[in-house]
Amino acid sequence: MRLAAIADTHGNHLALEAVLADIAALGVDLTVNLGDHLSSPLEAAKTADILLANDMVSIRGNHDRWILEKTQQEMGMSDRWAHDQLSAVHKAWLADLPATRLVEDRIFLCHGTPADDNTYWLERVLPDGTMAMNAIAEIERLAADTDCPLLLCAHSHTPRAVRLGDGRLVVNPGSVGCPGYEDPTPPTPHVMQAGTPDASYALLEEVGGRWAVSFRQVPYDNRAMAAIAAERGHAAWASALSTGWIR
Ligand SMILES: [Fe+2]
Repeated sequence: MRLAAIADTHGNHLALEAVLADIAALGVDLTVNLGDHLSSPLEAAKTADILLANDMVSIRGNHDRWILEKTQQEMGMSDRWAHDQLSAVHKAWLADLPATRLVEDRIFLCHGTPADDNTYWLERVLPDGTMAMNAIAEIERLAADTDCPLLLCAHSHTPRAVRLGDGRLVVNPGSVGCPGYEDPTPPTPHVMQAGTPDASYALLEEVGGRWAVSFRQVPYDNRAMAAIAAERGHAAWASALSTGWIR
């Protein structure tokens, strides 16, 4: 079986189109989408239209949940921008997405960890506000209740694969549409930077009962998306979209 895993599109319709074209050229049996589909100062409605028109197995991320659950006053900038662009059809689609999903009894999908869409699984935040790989004991503890050979997660926007001691594989495909962000949330405000503006996703292939992963970094017209963010007054978004760094 050959699988594409995409995540954290964040309203970036041009990055999504580039990734879907790359997937179509390579050929897969199934595409799964791990959530945070729309939140950003970009093009939530155009992105939702593409997602609704394409056949994939999707779950929701923390931002998808916040778009529906929070009041306008409680929402952050990205969630509010997306919320205000979406139609009733888009919101109904979001509302139907589950937090986790099991595919063919052996592939587990979640956004953050199996238990929480707003916790990093493979990374931890350091006191200086950067992010590093999580300790293996903690990664394995968070996998304890999920007995699948392939575990897919997202949320940190950081492409990474971790092979657990028992042979299971945890994969984060990175972010399709948001290659850097500042998270001001206490207790430790932090920054994520992919180092490249390209759209990230993962290809997974089952070989002899084990899963092999390759990460794809797809160039697209990122300057056009950076220009939209800049025009709407969001300098950090514009910087991340144009360079992969928050400068
Ligand atoms: Fe995200």
